[in-house]
Amino acid sequence: VDGLDTKIIGKEMYIFKEVMSTNTVAKFLSLNNVSNGCVILSEKQSKAKGRLGKAWQSPLGGIWLSMVLNPQVDHSKISMITLATGVAVVKTLEKLGIESAEIKWPNDVMINGKKICGILTEAITKFNTIENVIIGVGIDANFDVHELPEELQEGTTTLGIELGHKVNENEVIRIFLEEFEKIGSIFMDGEYEAILKEWRKYSYSIGKIVEVREPFSKPYDAYVLGISREGALVVEKIDGSLEKVISGECIIKN
Ligand code: BTN
Repeated sequence: VDGLDTKIIGKEMYIFKEVMSTNTVAKFLSLNNVSNGCVILSEKQSKAKGRLGKAWQSPLGGIWLSMVLNPQVDHSKISMITLATGVAVVKTLEKLGIESAEIKWPNDVMINGKKICGILTEAITKFNTIENVIIGVGIDANFDVHELPEELQEGTTTLGIELGHKVNENEVIRIFLEEFEKIGSIFMDGEYEAILKEWRKYSYSIGKIVEVREPFSKPYDAYVLGISREGALVVEKIDGSLEKVISGECIIKN
């Protein structure tokens, strides 16, 4: 990646034409003493993973990357790293001239209600401490949305569509890695409140009515009040009680 101005992120980089999933490669490499901040990039993925066990479409022309981090923090801080990554993506889009990106909790980056980026964080833990965190980022850059399965076309946008021209993928990657390193150092300094403040600024979810779908429980409707100190979504149920949502998804209803 030309002109990359970072100290840690992307100093070691592996670039592939096609892999099953950069997250899987990252996980494998993390067992083999790669450096903190190592980045795995692939032009295509044949079996990419989305959140909640879903598949992720990764045609040529997208940005598919994973980072291996060794943050040495408690397990409870993982969701904060994910939120920080979403903020880094929004800031990257701002630098490219897209001002209207927002984050749908926990980590979908949206433009006018259409998804442009997904983030998948996976932790490798030992004795409840995190050995490594793999952060996978998929940014829809230059491909034609008609290449996607029909049911995804409507809800997806790309950098190309938003900007009206093809983007230089290398430049997008460079900006993202630099933005990630900046917010990553705020994370490492333990300034979680600063990260949450940024996240709130870009939130698409706060103030909306959502259907909360958590693993192993019945979906319910709720109003999104905000985000807690641990990065959970705080919602008010119809009966007035408050809940903290830590995993799963929130489908926006209004
Ligand atoms: C989601 O929104 O469900 C998360 C999607 C994450 C996709 C990225 S692309 C690079 C990395 N490798 C994967 O297999 N998944 C992530």
